Amino acid sequence: MKKTIIANWKLNPVSLKAAQKLAASVPFKAKNKVVLCPPAIYLSSIDYPNVGAQDCFWQNQGPFTGQTSPLMLKDMKIKYCIVGHSEKRAVGDTDEMINAKVKACLAQKITPVLCVGFGTTVEQDDLEAVDLLKSQLSLALAGVEAKKVIVAYEPVWAIGTGRNASPEHAEQIAIFIQNKYGAGKVLYGGSVTAFNAKSYLQQPNIGGLLVGGASLKAGEFNQIINM
Ligand code: 13P
Repeated sequence: MKKTIIANWKLNPVSLKAAQKLAASVPFKAKNKVVLCPPAIYLSSIDYPNVGAQDCFWQNQGPFTGQTSPLMLKDMKIKYCIVGHSEKRAVGDTDEMINAKVKACLAQKITPVLCVGFGTTVEQDDLEAVDLLKSQLSLALAGVEAKKVIVAYEPVWAIGTGRNASPEHAEQIAIFIQNKYGAGKVLYGGSVTAFNAKSYLQQPNIGGLLVGGASLKAGEFNQIINM
C-alpha cells in the first residue's frame, strides 16, 4: 500500500520563486503519496496535487488578526493541515486549542495531520513516552472521529537534530496509536533523511513520514518519495 510522505517546509524558502522551484522539483507521481506544506503565504501559488497548510486557526472568520482559516484553506483547495506541531506548541498552542483546530479542519473536510511528541526526551523508555502521548492524543482527539485524522509521531528531541528515533520504537508507538485511538494513519517524523527513510517505511504500521529539513533538498526528497 502507498505510504504518505508529507513535506513540512516550515519557514522556508524565503522567496516565492524559490518555493515554486522547489515544488516543481517534486514529480506529481511518485511511489508514495506526496503532500507539500509550504508557508501559508505561498499556499495559493504552489502547483501540486496535494498541498497542505502548516497550521490554521479554529475559527473561520472574524476579528482574529494574523490567523489562517480552515474555510479559506478549503476555498484554496488545500487538502491537509498540520496541527499541534512541536514548534507551535513551543510558542503556546495547548491541547485544547489543537483539539479545536482538528475539529475545525474536519468540518471543512481538510485532513488534519496531528503532531504529537512535544515534551518527550531521548532518555525516556517506550512506556514513559506512551504516557505523555496518551495525554496529548486523548485531549487533541476528544470528540473527533480519529480515523479521519493522520497522526504524526514526532519526538521533539529528534526534530532537526540528526538524532532520529529507532524504526522499532517508532513502529511500537504507531501500533499503540492505531490500536488505542484508531487514527487513520500514523507517520514518523524527526531527522528523516534519504539514509534512514526506508527503515521506517518498511515498518508495517508506519503509514509514512513527516519530513522537515530533507524536504528542502530536491534530490534527497525525490529519493525519499520513491522508496
Ligand atoms: P526534521 O526532518 O528537519 O527533523 O523536521 C521534522 C519535522 O518537524 C517535520 O514536521
